[in-house]
Amino acid sequence: MNSICYIAGLGTSVPHTTLSNFDFEKIMDTSDEWIVTRTGIKNRHVLAKEQNVSDIAYEASIKAIQDAKIDKSEITHILVATCSPQNLSPSVACLIAEKLGMSSVSGLQTISPKNPSLVCFDFNAACSGFIYGLELARAFLMLHRNATILLVTAEGLSRRLNYQDRTTSILFGDAAGAVILRDHGDYLYSVLDVSIGADGDYKDLIRIGGGTEWQAKVGDRIDDTFFLSMQGREVFKHAVRGMTQESFKLLERNHLAISDIDLFIAHQANMRIIEAVGERLGIAKDNVFTNLEKYGNTSASSILLAMDEAREKGILKKGNKTLLTAFGAGLTWGSALLS
Ligand code: ACO
Repeated sequence: MNSICYIAGLGTSVPHTTLSNFDFEKIMDTSDEWIVTRTGIKNRHVLAKEQNVSDIAYEASIKAIQDAKIDKSEITHILVATCSPQNLSPSVACLIAEKLGMSSVSGLQTISPKNPSLVCFDFNAACSGFIYGLELARAFLMLHRNATILLVTAEGLSRRLNYQDRTTSILFGDAAGAVILRDHGDYLYSVLDVSIGADGDYKDLIRIGGGTEWQAKVGDRIDDTFFLSMQGREVFKHAVRGMTQESFKLLERNHLAISDIDLFIAHQANMRIIEAVGERLGIAKDNVFTNLEKYGNTSASSILLAMDEAREKGILKKGNKTLLTAFGAGLTWGSALLS
């Protein structure tokens, strides 16, 4: 199978500050036992006061650039998947460009008919952001064969959690991930195919406030609607169905059976959801990689955090067939095949 998109470098970053289940026991009516049994999560990393998502996104980007052994001047696109951006505007992508010092190589100071202009923007596919980003990158690479794309996932959901709501606040953590995507050169993994979907009828199942729906005046107090809210049970059901069906669709389209898959990495939301999808797909338990116990649900960044660790442990290997799948607010979902 030929690919038009290769992962040439990969990096991740999590804040140093952590919140364990025992920390939650001190601030709300919950227990380590309840959280572990219902979700599999033991710990999460959260942004420190002086930090923001562009800081961890920048760290992940630097790691991916170094891993790909490229110079930052080769980057033509910065695409950021986030449902917890630092501001409504400017985009996190532009903040990363500024931190990387891209202006000196492809900004307004150096604009000329000879230099390619840098493209920067954010997009929101919630927890499916990395899979959506792979599809976006494939489309850009078809239009611009020499593009070098920095695809980043940047999430700071701890800033939109209601720490008085035990049903949501225990689930999420902050993290960033980054990959360099190209259609040429040395690479770690090839992106064989991607399939994505969405259904806006389920818009109310997961909501994060703070946009223009919130008609605020100076001096207004924030209320519950400012924070993430979720109908957990409903999300659980749709997550299992969406990830299973999109994965089967992708396998069929590529004439593959589940027995051809060496490694399965799902969005790290909840251990029970991952087990349910794994069972429906019929994938061997040994081929399922998870690390959500350390990080919680880091939205768009969770698959990259898992890929990074699986690679470090020698489990995610070039040439082996890896199936990725994700599900998130919107509702959105998607699956991708790597080799
Ligand atoms: N500690 C103790 N008890 C709790 C807690 C807690 N942290 N949270 C809820 N409970 C209680 C509830 O109040 C309820 O009590 P009651 O029966 O007295 O009313 C009981 O536990 C059962 O609550 P449920 O919500 O039915 O529990 P469930 O087994 O469904 O687990 C969970 C909840 C973990 C949220 C689950 O539904 C889930 O994982 N859903 C999917 C969420 C998800 O993965 N979202 C991903 C997408 S996010 C994105 O895209 C940004």
